[in-house]
Amino acid sequence: MSKFWSPLVNDLVPYVPGEQPKVANLIKLNTNESPFGPSPKVIAAVQAELNDTLRLYPDPEGESLRKTIAAYHGITPGQVFLGNGSDEVLAHIFYGLFQHGEPVLFPDVTYSFYPVYCGLYGIESRQIPLTDSFEIDPAEYTGPNGGVIFPNPNAPTGRYLELEHIETILHANPDRVVVVDEAYIDFGGTSAITLVDRYPNLLVTQTLSKSRALAGLRVGFAVGHPDLIEALNRVKNSFNSYPLDRLALAGARAAYEDEAWFQQCCQTVIAERERVTQALEQQGFEVLPSRANFVLARHPDKSGQHLATGLREKGIIVRHFNKPRISEYLRITIGTASQNDALIDGLAAL
Ligand SMILES: Cc1ncc(COP(=O)(O)O)c(C=O)c1O
Repeated sequence: MSKFWSPLVNDLVPYVPGEQPKVANLIKLNTNESPFGPSPKVIAAVQAELNDTLRLYPDPEGESLRKTIAAYHGITPGQVFLGNGSDEVLAHIFYGLFQHGEPVLFPDVTYSFYPVYCGLYGIESRQIPLTDSFEIDPAEYTGPNGGVIFPNPNAPTGRYLELEHIETILHANPDRVVVVDEAYIDFGGTSAITLVDRYPNLLVTQTLSKSRALAGLRVGFAVGHPDLIEALNRVKNSFNSYPLDRLALAGARAAYEDEAWFQQCCQTVIAERERVTQALEQQGFEVLPSRANFVLARHPDKSGQHLATGLREKGIIVRHFNKPRISEYLRITIGTASQNDALIDGLAAL
């Protein structure tokens, strides 16, 4: 607290990102990054962009990247909005597309940035409990609200909601924007982008931070009806006209030009996820079925805190949330085969 702070800042409860350790040689399975580097084509494209043009501002609309993303998903560039990571896109959505006078609906166990945006903008929220098996119950997303948001697959559970259930939520809320946060969709789900032409109230967000191994470049986007995109552009141009720099635009474009690399990385993560799940189950862990690049797991006899601390002492970091319903669980990012072996051995030793 300082006398220089505005009253708003005083009341903020900020998001706490997962640790980015300063020491080398840790096995980092805590923030759902890709264990593989980006495509060599991305590195080449970013290097090619390191030239005199850096003195010029980038394209404020990121038109070439919007065209690339639109072509990839079979939509139009006017249906795409770009942001500095999907977190920034989400922030603009909370500000510009949710009705602030009514509660925004999201699951009780979900991405912990959602309540932070509500706090930042003074938006009411209503947290809808997941079922006992940590699934989203579409029937619960009804009644007066200012909008709906959930990740699919959900984080940190990894549980996936079929598109037909998303359509149930869309039908129940024709006058409100329903946001599907697809940060992890490439690890085994079907994107709701296929639905945007049929539902003017649907907005889908994605990121290049996970499946395309570009968390360090900060690129995310939203796809939806041009009216929704226009709202986001109005917010963006009232905040920062150039959210994506020249290097990010070039690297992100190149990421979509190496489909083989992308598929190979996703398939490897999926196969390793199934291997880790089986190995942990053999050790007595309960592992939620995941379609993401992480698993949420708990052991009946060992506390989540004990296991997270024990792994850390062995140089392996996973995420432990000291929160209702999940405090006994570990969220473990799927790493390379050798990282996963170290995790499995480390847990066996504990
Ligand atoms: C569910 C979910 N949405 C969005 C994000 C934000 O991703 P980024 O800002 O890197 O695009 C994350 C990051 O972990 C996430 O877990």
